[in-house]
Amino acid sequence: MKEKNILNNKEQKFILTELKKYEDPNAAVVECLKYVQQRLKWISLDVIKEVSQIVSVPVSKIESIATFYSQIFRQPVGKNIIKYCDGVVCYINGYKKIEKTMSNYLKITPGNTTKDKKFTLIPICCLGNCDNSPTIMINENLFSNVTNRKIINILENLR
Ligand code: FES
Repeated sequence: MKEKNILNNKEQKFILTELKKYEDPNAAVVECLKYVQQRLKWISLDVIKEVSQIVSVPVSKIESIATFYSQIFRQPVGKNIIKYCDGVVCYINGYKKIEKTMSNYLKITPGNTTKDKKFTLIPICCLGNCDNSPTIMINENLFSNVTNRKIINILENLR
């Protein structure tokens, strides 16, 4: 008996449409994974295997692409994904203090998820908001000129 697909019809269609846009199917992989991740929240090996069958790119190649892109999550993440910039400008403007404050408040180290599955903390290189750094992004919301007090208020409101 055939196992049930993880990808739904809409996602399979999206992948096929993306494939037509590129000569090299490798180029379509990131957008396909990002699209699927919107619903599934993270990309498991089983998802990669299904994508691999559709795009005809080896599983190992898709795994290396997925691992390279910090926007693709290879393990389950929390309800609120906190991406904080660890780029040079944010470093100069003190992201390290913000990182420490978030880590202490959430009791997790960067790259991890809280036990209650509410928060995941992810460092990311440059959120494209250098003029207003330090910058963090929580889910789809960008926060500029973040201070210790500001980040604690934001996190308390999301508790
Ligand atoms: S270096 Fe942090 S937003 Fe660009």
